[in-house]
Amino acid sequence: MADGLGALYPPEVAEVAAARLVDAAAEAFAERPADLARLDQVRTLRPDWFQSSGMVGYATYADRFAGDLAGVAAHIDHLRDLGVTYLHLLPLLATRPGDSDGGYAVADHRSVRPDLGTMDDLRDLARALRAAGISLVLDLVVNHVAREHPWAEAARAGDAHHRAFFLTFPDRTGPDAYEATLPEVFPDFAPGNFTWDDDLQAWVWTTFNAFQWDLDWANPEVLVAFAGIVFFLVNAGAEVLRLDALPFVWKRLGTDCQNQPEVHAVAAVLRALLRIVAPAVVLKAEAIVGPGELVRYLGAGRWSGRECDLAYHNTLMVQVWSTLASRDARLATQALRALPPKPAATAWATYVRGHDDIGWAVDDADAAAVGLDGFAHRAFLSDWYAGRFPGSPATGLVFQENPATGDRRISGTTASLAGAERAGDPGAQALVVGRILVAHAVVFGWGGIPVIWMGDEVAMVNDPGWADDPAHAGDNRWVHRPRMDWDLVARRDDDPVAGPVFRGLRHLARVRASLPQLHASVEAAVLDVAEPGVLAVRRAHPLGPLLGVYNFTESARSVPVPIPGGAGTDVLAGEVVSAEGVALAPYQARWIVAPT
Ligand code: GLC
Repeated sequence: MADGLGALYPPEVAEVAAARLVDAAAEAFAERPADLARLDQVRTLRPDWFQSSGMVGYATYADRFAGDLAGVAAHIDHLRDLGVTYLHLLPLLATRPGDSDGGYAVADHRSVRPDLGTMDDLRDLARALRAAGISLVLDLVVNHVAREHPWAEAARAGDAHHRAFFLTFPDRTGPDAYEATLPEVFPDFAPGNFTWDDDLQAWVWTTFNAFQWDLDWANPEVLVAFAGIVFFLVNAGAEVLRLDALPFVWKRLGTDCQNQPEVHAVAAVLRALLRIVAPAVVLKAEAIVGPGELVRYLGAGRWSGRECDLAYHNTLMVQVWSTLASRDARLATQALRALPPKPAATAWATYVRGHDDIGWAVDDADAAAVGLDGFAHRAFLSDWYAGRFPGSPATGLVFQENPATGDRRISGTTASLAGAERAGDPGAQALVVGRILVAHAVVFGWGGIPVIWMGDEVAMVNDPGWADDPAHAGDNRWVHRPRMDWDLVARRDDDPVAGPVFRGLRHLARVRASLPQLHASVEAAVLDVAEPGVLAVRRAHPLGPLLGVYNFTESARSVPVPIPGGAGTDVLAGEVVSAEGVALAPYQARWIVAPT
């Protein structure tokens, strides 16, 4: 902890902060409920719990999934049926009224959104989930608070202590200097990174929406305040904290103010505090950044093994969609190989879709290495998934078109991006099922925690009414945040897409749990194969390797695969396959186990 603080503040400031944090930690430790303290002991003996191949994640908004927190508890059976052991409930703390960026504009860190329930309901839900073997994951929105948060209210009322929690500027000199090198996250509906506030009589830093005020982590008071919030949430039963927008928390003039070295120190300090108070709890980085920066959030250099335990594998997600569109795995092979290995004690959170848009984080150098132009490929992906490219069956929406950079991100559910809305006949529907399942097979077979986005297990399509709520109308990410279709869940076996998708995901989860090769400590290595439409991933293990072989095309393929001993068993299909030629049906995924 001292190291982390020393990287953030001058020595005398760091020392005072350390003393305050240790006191706060001791208090939180003393207050830790007995059942959670017991979980701490169990996990201290088994610190790799989150790396196990038995882990399967699910992410959803509590209200969209089941109305409120009690509703979520009532659907634990559905989650268990899918094999879920980790449940990320998107922001559920009290928000500002109206548009709250899906809850990411927190107005009170110590109370639950009233329509969802109370803090006691949250504690009850955490307990019920734990009893079912499911870890509760909550967001810790570290970069900003709502303009209506008490800290911001106090600042607006003239309180200097709280004004110093934020980055304020009396005139445009500061903002203009920073803007020279700052990108825009929401160029469409929140252009620029600063907002004039009449109450403050100042410009305030607002990276995201105008109502989300960035915090100044260079002020140790912010860190001390957040430590208190962390202790509060973990003592309420959160077992994983998702550090929202972590790359943005440290600003430096002349840079893009993302991925600054200090953001890693911030995470390291929070992790050290958690190891003291609640060793059962792990930290997950939400760092949707390019491949070059991504692994650093799992701890690199001096922070190796001391930073986040989990991070979203954004590169894998992007490459899955890129390969589905191009039917060519060579870029994925290049990009995934270029990633440095992650520390062995950490894990990826792998995913096909989440609640956000998809940004085409394809590195120009990776593209060039396989003969592609990065810009043109990104443009192709946007066209493909917006259904504007000839032959594309996708029905995504363009999110945040940025004429200055040519960037066009994409919204849409997995099923819609895979062509479900345009699949009128059984042949086309089978291809949609194939795309959805091969994409999930890759993320389930990578190692780490595969996280299913709500509704994907029954191939829910885009919500046509996404803009009906005025607070959502400007933000088309709501197209892939529908209300859970429980009716479809109930009749899934009569549906040509929902049924096979649900059964396929459940099968992946079950088979995965039996494979020690999928323990996250092992690194996934992408292999060269003779067939460009096929992705092959090898996971070494003392019991023999696991080879994931994935056909990303609409036609049958046969590829030689280096299976030791010449033959192995595809544990997904329960078949023996030969190294000389592994036959793959359209979009087939095989997980091949070879004897040592
Ligand atoms: C993260 C969230 C996203 C939100 C942003 C601002 O990226 O995933 O939904 O808009 O942070 O909090």
